[in-house]
Amino acid sequence: MNPQLDLETLPRHIAIIMDGNGRWARERNRNRIFGHREGSNSVRDVVSSCRRLGIPFLTLYAFSKENWQRPDGEVRALWRLLKNFLKSQLPEIMEKEIRLCHLGDPDGIPQDVAEQLQAAVADTARNDKLTLSLAINYGGRQEITRAARLLATDVQEGKCDLHGLSPEDFSQYLFTSDFPDPDLVIRTGGEYRVSNFLLWQLAYAEIYITKVLWPDFREPQFIEALYEYQRRERRFGKTSEQIRRKSSGPSRTRLG
Ligand code: FPP
Repeated sequence: MNPQLDLETLPRHIAIIMDGNGRWARERNRNRIFGHREGSNSVRDVVSSCRRLGIPFLTLYAFSKENWQRPDGEVRALWRLLKNFLKSQLPEIMEKEIRLCHLGDPDGIPQDVAEQLQAAVADTARNDKLTLSLAINYGGRQEITRAARLLATDVQEGKCDLHGLSPEDFSQYLFTSDFPDPDLVIRTGGEYRVSNFLLWQLAYAEIYITKVLWPDFREPQFIEALYEYQRRERRFGKTSEQIRRKSSGPSRTRLG
């Protein structure tokens, strides 16, 4: 039976570690770049699904601080791919009223990519149907260290009272200060790691790990992840009365 989604209990924010491009390519005797290129089609698919389902925040791990250690040719190809993606997808991103955000360190991103990224962020700043954040040149520990540095400056300048500092106050210094924490984190490719991704923000996220490699992760697999998320919500959050009412209510839809 196809999964049924309850549109009222979808996650508000989904974060994805898009792993498995290299393995996908190797299985086809192609180079890793071929896998990354096919992976960008999965990005388009998942973004469209979020937009269609009304999920307001999606964050994708596109290039980590650690990815610089990959072979030069692969690093260059990844930057080229990101730049081309931003350029070619901008009209559709605008048309779908998607706001693009960057999480990560702007320093070190190749200038042509940084310019494309800045332009896309500026052009889409007023869109409000979906916030698509790309974690690029991003590391969770680096983000927290940066936040601590910014906080220390505010304390020195008398703008912040250290003794009354709460976790909510601290989170204002993170790249994600405007966003709710992710409800669901998806990792494709089957590895059981967080890989320095959103270390602070994932504190209460549901974790979904699938063996499916990222280029094969399309709308049906995404819907399956949402369905699994909703099953967990059912187990841990709600009463059986609520479940019965929801399953016969008008918000149910058949997808995937
Ligand atoms: C990890 O797979 C993937 C990456 C490091 C890059 C993710 C990039 C994309 C999906 C390309 C397009 C992105 C956007 C936002 C347009 P891996 O190479 O580590 O795979 P492996 O574990 O099988 O080697």
